[in-house]
Amino acid sequence: MNSQLQTRNYFPLEQAQQLLAIYGSPLYIYDRDRLRQTIYYITQAISYSPTQFHFASVTNGNITLLQIFREAGWGLHANTPGDIYLGLCAGFQPQQIVYSGSNLNRAEMEQVLHWGITTLNLDSLSQLQLCCEVYQSLSSSHTLPLQLGLRLNQPEINGDSRIGVRPEEFPQAIALTQQAKLKLKGLHFYRGTGTNATKAFTQVIDTILNTAQQLPDWEYLDFGGGFGYPYRYDGATFDWHLFGKELTEHLQHLNQPIKLIIEPGRAAIAGCATLLTRVVSVKWQDSKQIVGVDTTVANLSVPAVHGGYREIVSLSSSNTNPCFLTDVCGNTTYSRDYLGRNCQLPELAIGDILAILDVGAYGYAMSSHFLHRPRPAEVLLESKEHRLIRKREDYSVLLSSQVF
Ligand SMILES: Cc1ncc(COP(=O)(O)O)c(C=O)c1O
Repeated sequence: MNSQLQTRNYFPLEQAQQLLAIYGSPLYIYDRDRLRQTIYYITQAISYSPTQFHFASVTNGNITLLQIFREAGWGLHANTPGDIYLGLCAGFQPQQIVYSGSNLNRAEMEQVLHWGITTLNLDSLSQLQLCCEVYQSLSSSHTLPLQLGLRLNQPEINGDSRIGVRPEEFPQAIALTQQAKLKLKGLHFYRGTGTNATKAFTQVIDTILNTAQQLPDWEYLDFGGGFGYPYRYDGATFDWHLFGKELTEHLQHLNQPIKLIIEPGRAAIAGCATLLTRVVSVKWQDSKQIVGVDTTVANLSVPAVHGGYREIVSLSSSNTNPCFLTDVCGNTTYSRDYLGRNCQLPELAIGDILAILDVGAYGYAMSSHFLHRPRPAEVLLESKEHRLIRKREDYSVLLSSQVF
């Protein structure tokens, strides 16, 4: 049981009031110590050596948070050139960044190689060919050899995923790479995000290792991300130790030393953040409490738009207060603007503070200007200190790239 990941991050009311008084509401708050503990917990769950962890910054691109991963010895997994850009700004060396993305155009591939990225897991034969072509055209300026891998698409384990290269395409991929005097050294597997069933990972290890051995120059296995996070107290949760034990055993039985790469996103960062919001309106519809808050699904799109559950707690009420069926509604009339539906919350009043828990992954990163509400600020708690790590936007952001 992942007890570390199952404890929740609550704020005392006084601390929440103080932070909102200083930084305004709504407010994303990250807990540095909690983040460090989670990084440590995940790192020590896999004893296999050599293993390199790469944080998937698609989940959260805040530079200060990326630096915490860097200081902990993790690299970065980049889904896009933007992820790489942020990673370089956060001080990662290009060799610490693994690109495992999709559908770059030629200019983007040139940019990625110009930045000095050396490990690329490619999603199709045409992306592989493009990478080889660009590498050859730049090879005088790009001195470091590339380490190329393929993203795996094997229907019996990947379902009908659009991503990846089928094993029957491997001979063509090998030939393409050899023509560019490069080697296909890696296989990348991605299980799809938010998977809590540990078995969904462990039961495919054999198949993946057998498939990887079809690559004559195989040197590394990137087992991706997708590891779930226990958003519900009583729900199933991904078991890092079981996963680490089984993966280690399998890799140790290979008759060649293989480097392991793991690129968790959600599991590493979800639990370290809370979105604080204030109640601005309360009404009752029969026995249901309809609470309006000063944030919106555009600030946190996961619950309403993507159907994910995030626990909401009232910081202003005691645990002993009776609870009522409650919808927590955003500050627009968009029909999906719910932060939570059918929650059990005490009777609330205007000005009360609600905490939306576990919003570190795909939270701010998926926020948008839909509904034309500027985004909240982000604050980092460091033991008893706190500091701003992203400014609150104002309305000028709505005009910033418009030409009129
Ligand atoms: C290749 C790859 N690795 C890792 C991740 C991170 O996934 P998760 O947050 O589910 O761990 C993603 C997410 O899109 C991905 O595409």
